[in-house]
Amino acid sequence: MLDRFNRKINYLRISVTDRCNLRCHYCMPENDPSLLRHEDILTFEEMQQVVAVAVALGVDKIRLTGGEPLVRRDIVELVSMIAAVPGLNDLSMTTNAMLLGRFAKALANAGLKRINISLDTIDPLKFKRITRGGDLQKVFDGIQAAREAGLRPIKVNCVVGNQPDVTDIKNVERYCHENGLHIRFIQQMDLQTGHFDIVKGGTGGDCKHCNRLRLTSDGKVKPCLFSDLSFDIRLLGIQKAMEMALDNKPEKGTVSLNNCFHNIGG
Ligand code: 5AD
Ligand code: SF4
Repeated sequence: MLDRFNRKINYLRISVTDRCNLRCHYCMPENDPSLLRHEDILTFEEMQQVVAVAVALGVDKIRLTGGEPLVRRDIVELVSMIAAVPGLNDLSMTTNAMLLGRFAKALANAGLKRINISLDTIDPLKFKRITRGGDLQKVFDGIQAAREAGLRPIKVNCVVGNQPDVTDIKNVERYCHENGLHIRFIQQMDLQTGHFDIVKGGTGGDCKHCNRLRLTSDGKVKPCLFSDLSFDIRLLGIQKAMEMALDNKPEKGTVSLNNCFHNIGG
């Protein structure tokens, strides 16, 4: 499908939950993030229907995000339901890898093709600080499990702040190089002030070539990360919500005051 600015939209990012088992300071408030009610969260059937409609409209690439997608109960079942929709070329996931050691094999068997892992530092103490309590060893174990499961390529998302620690970045780079991982540097973004940049080594943040729509876990199709526009599939119907998101996709992102990263999945 083409939007008003002739961009080919073929990529849908689905936030499967707004919950997370970490609390990265740039993404989540420390305690009590306002979370969605269970009854507002889409069922697997609804998510599968959205994928089917999206594919009929020209989407061939799906990414599952969160929050943290692996904390959604029965996530493997959801992956197999989405993988079963004919017409997809690519099915991937962005995860913090805390639970990947446990799930990698089952995810691959269910039809997940590849995986992106968030990793900002390979210093265990810094990792604990950034994520407010995360265990870095679990990420390393998760990466190993993903490799053994044949999830390829494995990409690393490294969020870089305003005063980046150069040694940190170099160390993550070296770790990725030694372990055959692709690395992408993401400038820390701010939805409220509209601060965002092109992702180095990736495809995000480049409005001219943006090919994506987003689905929140409570069923809103969002045309742009940096916009508060959203179209509710339960109110409008899936097809109409997708078409309205397409027709209202802004030329450029500005700000989003109503959202946080943990409910739109970065
Ligand atoms: N700026 C940039 N990236 C962010 N992410 C979460 N919050 C932000 C932010 N404020 C990234 C995570 C993860 C992806 C889902 O989104 O690091 O890799
Ligand atoms: Fe969780 Fe990812 Fe947000 Fe960190 S960036 S709090 S791992 S959703």
